[in-house]
Amino acid sequence: MKPFDFHLPTKILFGRGRVAELGANIPAEAEKVFIVTDGTIARKTSILERVVNALKAKEIEVFDRVEENPSIGTVEDAGREARESGARLVIGLGGGSPMDTAKGVAVLAANPGPLKPYLEGKPLERAPLAVIAIPTTSGTGSEATPFAVFTDKAAEQKVGFGHPGIFPVLALVDPELTTSMPESVVVDTGLDVLAHAAEAYLSTISFPLNDALALQAIETSVAELPRAAKKEREAMDRMAAAATVAGAAIAHASTILPHIMGYPLTVFHGVSHGRASAVMLVHVLAALRAESSCPEKVGHVDRLFEATGGIEGFLRGLGVPVKLSDYGVREDEIGLYARKTILKGDCKITPADVTVEYLEKVYRAAF
Ligand SMILES: [Fe+2]
Repeated sequence: MKPFDFHLPTKILFGRGRVAELGANIPAEAEKVFIVTDGTIARKTSILERVVNALKAKEIEVFDRVEENPSIGTVEDAGREARESGARLVIGLGGGSPMDTAKGVAVLAANPGPLKPYLEGKPLERAPLAVIAIPTTSGTGSEATPFAVFTDKAAEQKVGFGHPGIFPVLALVDPELTTSMPESVVVDTGLDVLAHAAEAYLSTISFPLNDALALQAIETSVAELPRAAKKEREAMDRMAAAATVAGAAIAHASTILPHIMGYPLTVFHGVSHGRASAVMLVHVLAALRAESSCPEKVGHVDRLFEATGGIEGFLRGLGVPVKLSDYGVREDEIGLYARKTILKGDCKITPADVTVEYLEKVYRAAF
């Protein structure tokens, strides 16, 4: 058996109503707190108000201009404000976009910008500020990972960043905060959970302890997402927990081809991140099944979908088409997508011999 490291420095508090415990879990030296969120959470729900109330007497500054798939420019703007505010703690409040932005802000509040050189491998000069993550969707798992993904608009691509210093010190997972999600968001973010769990399980760097987390999150997604999509409370709670569990699994094994092959669908056709990843998961699983590169693990995943008519049947049951043509993708885009995907390091931890030609073949089979 190969050696492994399992290190999850994030304290996880899970349960309805537990956002009220936030103030008691803030380090005493963090007198000033910088909250990163989006306009919907700040102005169309009472979530920000609940968080501010839970922070009690802390001095608070709020940045609420995070967009979906946050751009490097947005992270730099928020980072500048955080730096000028003198805050010692950053709270990411929302879905993956605000939580990932908060991680970038934590880097830029402690280090001189711009952000891009750090994304390209420049070492950080100082440790990022501490990050607390409070998810309001059940998907990204960012609350339990040392990763953030940003959009480089000029290069038309998504860029991942990973650093142990951006592992949140606290993940406050209060499913009450997820109740305002529209049904479409429940489905699309739930598909992200499923993709994280399946990809972490299939990743060549996973190991038995991590596999257990990943499998648990796949099973939960298959059993609970259809009911969560109807806004059933217990199912939504279980998906909130599964999102964090799957986050912990990708923290140790990363995601593989479905995520990086899904990025161009998001960048060029606006397909939501979770949906793009799950759709590509269908086609990557088909390729892995055909070439029999890791038959035990692929077989295990397939068995979990037996009752739903396979993963394709599961997605169709949720009203999610699986053909790329259903999303407006054209076959003449395949070459560009494959060239963008091959640059990503996660090609190397996919259990296949991934080349540009291989990627083109998988994309072609997805029409
Ligand atoms: Fe994801």
